[in-house]
Amino acid sequence: MSRTAYVNGRYCDLRDACVNVEDRGYQFADGVYEVCEVRGARLVDFPRHMVRLQRSLRELQIDEPMPITALAIIMREVVRRNRVTYGIVYLQVTRGVARRDHAFPPSSVKPSVVVTARALDYEKKQQTAATGIKVITLAENRWPRVDIKSVSLLPNVLAKQEAREKGAYEAWYVDSDGFVTEGASSNAWIVTKDGRAVTRSVDRGILAGITRAVLVEVMGAVQIRLEERPFTPAEAREAAEAFVTSASQIVMPVVAIDGQVVGNGQPGGITRQLREEFHRFSAFS
Ligand code: PDD
Repeated sequence: MSRTAYVNGRYCDLRDACVNVEDRGYQFADGVYEVCEVRGARLVDFPRHMVRLQRSLRELQIDEPMPITALAIIMREVVRRNRVTYGIVYLQVTRGVARRDHAFPPSSVKPSVVVTARALDYEKKQQTAATGIKVITLAENRWPRVDIKSVSLLPNVLAKQEAREKGAYEAWYVDSDGFVTEGASSNAWIVTKDGRAVTRSVDRGILAGITRAVLVEVMGAVQIRLEERPFTPAEAREAAEAFVTSASQIVMPVVAIDGQVVGNGQPGGITRQLREEFHRFSAFS
């Protein structure tokens, strides 16, 4: 089955989908994005993703390309046309097309909008969750505004590649004070031996993950104690459990950090419980 993308007002075959070479997303990574999970052909926690999108746009002084209600229609339509029941939908908004010049283009230049959707293999994902993933740690080398969900992801690309080359799936950044900030495409968590979930608070060192925010509510409801504070790789390696959160992974157990097994090397009980409970607390639209 051929895949469909939405590009600047048109639905087209993904193979023919293209943007102008002078799109500022292509030239300068001057744009932002969102990734929503798709479950039962519906968008998971869409309103929260749109609030974050609006904030990212505001921080970069990019105009909102259209009302959120219109974006919702397009994203649902791309999901429908690609017959995605389980997977992800990707939205990218850039500052638009203009002659290459670093400073902002005239206000007449309209933002570009691209939407794609992709089915994921549910069973495979569940299998990965049943065995857990490995992570490596590396020095934080991103710009300080990682709170903006910018498409400027080169450090993240390099971090993921390093993880792959070391047989791991995710890379955790460590700041200059020796604390884990977050993963290259996820938020980082540990569970202490006495059952408290620990994750860094939402400051400018991390992206305010939507999955993270919903999980905080899950924890309140199922009475898992939460501690929002930084932790070191050493504390993480000695923790009872570890996991990452993101729209595409939801709650994904981490079973090894820098080659050292976490807990007994199996996904932890609290991590599994949180993964199972998650969608009872997420919003479907
Ligand atoms: N990644 N931190 C970073 C650096 C991320 O890229 C992501 C998401 C998260 C988790 O955010 P959320 O729970 O809202 O997905 C944290 C997406 C999925 C991606 O880049 O594909």
